[in-house]
Amino acid sequence: MPPSGLAILIGAGPATGAGIARILGHPQHGNLAVALLARRPEALDELVGNLRSQVPNGVFEAFPTDTSPERLRKAFAEIKSHQSFSGLKLTTSIFSVKNSAKKPFMQENFEAFMDPLESYVGGAMVFSQESIKRFFEDHGEKTLAEGSEKKGTLIFTGTLGALRCNSEFASYGASRASVRQLAQALAREMSPKGIHVAHTIANGRITDADNEDTRTGKHMTADAVGKTYLWLSQQEPCLWTHELDLRPAQEKF
Ligand SMILES: NC(=O)c1ccc[n+]([C@@H]2O[C@H](COP(=O)([O-])OP(=O)(O)OC[C@H]3O[C@@H](n4cnc5c(N)ncnc54)[C@H](OP(=O)(O)O)[C@@H]3O)[C@@H](O)[C@H]2O)c1
Repeated sequence: MPPSGLAILIGAGPATGAGIARILGHPQHGNLAVALLARRPEALDELVGNLRSQVPNGVFEAFPTDTSPERLRKAFAEIKSHQSFSGLKLTTSIFSVKNSAKKPFMQENFEAFMDPLESYVGGAMVFSQESIKRFFEDHGEKTLAEGSEKKGTLIFTGTLGALRCNSEFASYGASRASVRQLAQALAREMSPKGIHVAHTIANGRITDADNEDTRTGKHMTADAVGKTYLWLSQQEPCLWTHELDLRPAQEKF
């Protein structure tokens, strides 16, 4: 069965990213062709190789890029013209970049503090704009009220730091909270146009494994995150989740 649409995932790494891509790309789950974006070409190639062997009929392609506007726009142009994705409409776009920084505040300097505001928050802005452009190109400009169907789903993987920030995580918290607000503003602006925007708060460890810790609810599996994202992407305009907590059963909250 050929893929029914296209997913774009930035933050394609061996933990959460692998599970999201595997579920979205699996013919018995999302059945989407998946474009995988991250900075390191070798790591990305390894991930694509693993996914292709785990999902033999899946379509997975690598696009090495960081989140700088120029490179990210180039990656979207390459995805658009890639022959594996010919004729496929974008249905799901996921911003799941890994971002962490911890430093006592009086050792912080302006440049280091601002870095994730540019690379993480700015990256999320450009990724969103490119994804939304593609949703309109592929599904038309009509609003839901004018008879358009849902155009697609844009999901941001967030963390608890987007809501409540710990000591020494000032820069991290500022960037995570900013992306949460970006997601909220986009949801309000884009929902009537047929684009569903969701922000998740992942609280606890996510691992791409099936072991004692995942079976007993100590850690989340990456596949379970993928299944949740697939469910979000399948929601119809009569009910759109904007934000949801993800945590394993044993995680305190
Ligand atoms: N794993 C967990 O326990 C956990 C728990 C809660 C929340 N989360 C969230 O889930 C998301 C994924 O995290 P993960 O730890 O599971 O990692 P992952 O999905 O295994 O990989 C994420 C990938 O993001 C890529 N990346 C980082 N900065 C980038 C940039 N500027 N541009 C493009 N790609 C970039 C990295 O690859 P390159 O270095 O090659 O770019 C990395 O491999 C993050 O938002 C994280 O905060 C994870």
